[in-house]
Amino acid sequence: MKTIIRQGTIVSPSEIYEADILIDGEKIACIGRNLESEGAKVIEARGKYVIPGGVDVHTHMDLLAGNSRAVDDFYDGTVAAACGGTTAIVDHMGFGPDGCNLHYQLNEYHHLADGKAVIDYGFHGTAQHVNQDILDELEGMMEDGVSSVKVYLTYDRRLNDGEALQVLKRMKKLGGVTAFHCENHEVVEYYRNMYREQGCTSPYYHAKSRPNLAEAEAVARILSLARLAGDAPVYIVHLSCEESLEAVLDARKKGQKNIFVETCTQYLTLTEERYMDKDGLKYVMSPPLRTREDCERLWEGLAAGDIQVVATDHCPFNYGIEKQLGRDDFTKCPNGAPGVEERMSVIFSEGVMKKRISLNRYVEALCTNPARIYGFYPEKGILQPGSDGDLVIIDPKKEYVLTHDRMHSAVDYTAYEGMKLKGQIELVMQRGSVVAEGNVFKGKRGAGRFIHRRPHDNA
Ligand code: URP
Ligand code: ZN
Ligand code: ZN
Repeated sequence: MKTIIRQGTIVSPSEIYEADILIDGEKIACIGRNLESEGAKVIEARGKYVIPGGVDVHTHMDLLAGNSRAVDDFYDGTVAAACGGTTAIVDHMGFGPDGCNLHYQLNEYHHLADGKAVIDYGFHGTAQHVNQDILDELEGMMEDGVSSVKVYLTYDRRLNDGEALQVLKRMKKLGGVTAFHCENHEVVEYYRNMYREQGCTSPYYHAKSRPNLAEAEAVARILSLARLAGDAPVYIVHLSCEESLEAVLDARKKGQKNIFVETCTQYLTLTEERYMDKDGLKYVMSPPLRTREDCERLWEGLAAGDIQVVATDHCPFNYGIEKQLGRDDFTKCPNGAPGVEERMSVIFSEGVMKKRISLNRYVEALCTNPARIYGFYPEKGILQPGSDGDLVIIDPKKEYVLTHDRMHSAVDYTAYEGMKLKGQIELVMQRGSVVAEGNVFKGKRGAGRFIHRRPHDNA
């Protein structure tokens, strides 16, 4: 099948220009003026932006967290992603049984996603404990297309600094990226216990128990370990506050290389006042929402290129069910919030339309950089001949209000309810096929393919 996207305004990290795109089969065949090809379906895009399909490298589909399971499986979650303009995800695999190896979880996740995902997907490994076998297994994971591994510095399956250092060193050798959830576990535990003992158990104290400096300390520490490991590629997930960004800038100023920073839609747009609302449990996530000043500092960091990626940490639990576990005690509330469907639209409106970031930076941080950092560029993340025919058409003139009833995720709320958005996603294509049009899902169950990712080039 051939498609011509006619006269759209094409956006890349460095250019904005008007042209036609010819997609032949699954790939972009040609970009130019007045393209013709016999039998091609023509989609008019005049006056609209044509951008690469969104790439969200931080999701948790079907995540088992304690006794709660995230409510989007790989079908519902990727339908939501597709309708929201995201055509590739890299999912953070959850913790497996005690002592399980990396491939145990990889096999589990292939079962969870295969035959369900409607868009292309990859997985990050999760190092929930470290020994010689696990370190040796990292090479096999790379060969199996999993070129990144995540380390948690908090939660029950956290690693200590010595273990984190070993993972960084081995991943550096293999050319892979180590992603870190940075929060100082002891500090967080101290505050959680203190507030519980004082009877302070409302969602507001979730935020209070995870202060900015608990995150920033862990960021600075992990950057030191990465430096010790010879500037091993290190990726900070869901960076949420000014102090953490300062730690990154300090390390870069000292010459440290291969530091990648991700923030998420919620840390740019939502603030801690939400925890005072009667539905504050909806926003219980770690790190928590911060202040307006933190949000604005993150926007500045994104605009300046200090932050490379905007992802979502999509981890949906129903407000009416799972989140209610925290009704009398915030520490019992499963952590996480939905966002895979909202990211592309919310950041376009709050970032580009409000002139906080350029259109080029938007594409770079939401499409190109994530694919580049995690080893699947230029198949994804850019519109150029030879790349996958993954694209999104946005009409910047349309406006609407984001409400839960227009969402496709299985979760019972959106954290962005009532947000007035400028710019609307009209059409989404994945490998040359329309997967969403006018907010209606048009793809196929199981059409998504596993993305066999390559090592990160950190030469
Ligand atoms: O609260 C969050 N972020 N839940 C998902 C797991 C994680 O920490 O990324
Ligand atoms: Zn995390
Ligand atoms: Zn996460």
